[in-house]
Amino acid sequence: MTRYLRLGVNIDHVATVRNARGGKHPDPVRAAHLAAEAGADGITAHLREDRRHIRDADVERLMAELTLPLNLEMAATDEMLAIALRHRPHAVCLVPEKRTEVTTEGGLDVDGGRGHLERYVAELGAAGIRVSLFIDPEVRQLDAARALGAPVVELHTGAYCDTPPGAGRGSELTRLVQAAAHAEAIGLECHAGHGLDYGTVGPVAAIPTIVELNIGHFLVGEALFVGLGETIRAMRRRMDEERPGARAGAVR
Ligand code: PXP
Repeated sequence: MTRYLRLGVNIDHVATVRNARGGKHPDPVRAAHLAAEAGADGITAHLREDRRHIRDADVERLMAELTLPLNLEMAATDEMLAIALRHRPHAVCLVPEKRTEVTTEGGLDVDGGRGHLERYVAELGAAGIRVSLFIDPEVRQLDAARALGAPVVELHTGAYCDTPPGAGRGSELTRLVQAAAHAEAIGLECHAGHGLDYGTVGPVAAIPTIVELNIGHFLVGEALFVGLGETIRAMRRRMDEERPGARAGAVR
């Protein structure tokens, strides 16, 4: 049976624009409501250590107002763990974070960081939060995620999206295909995201064992020209074209 592919809409960069002027507009929570109306299956927000886009008050409002599941992206730090345990979002995606980076560059080194990550995966899981680890599409990282007991991995699609067609994008796609197959074989739920747009989403959406895509920057940028609802509906159509017959289903 063809599995449904969920779309998680990342609203970080609505907050980036808001923060450029320090006021209340545009409101990322309003964007989350619009995304829900347009057919998003979940909302994703990254609370960074430096609060450059999403802020604590946004997370509070999202938890209070959202009807969709919230996927909170965060670094594995004690501060973030306390925030996640206080709010108990549907899911937490643990990501690497460097203050100097513009965006999340590369996945978590789960294999090299098992000792550090173990407690975060365990405590979040014990609180009923679905834990996902954002990793590069490498067998070594997938096996380490499995060994840690995380139920979900999100494959970093940045290298695939950043490689021009004809310059090796095919081999980056092959890495994603193989990693998604390995995730399935070892019992991990597989998500993917980073850098996806209308041009790159199709081949990733066609990988049958991936069940969720998280997309943000492109959707928010495109929304400036045609509106957020229309942009999300167009992305949804492109994803659905790759999964004919799949039906929206349960979140887990
Ligand atoms: N997934 C994860 C784990 C991310 O860190 C990001 C970027 O915040 C995304 C997906 C979305 O990437 P983009 O904004 O490039 O669509």
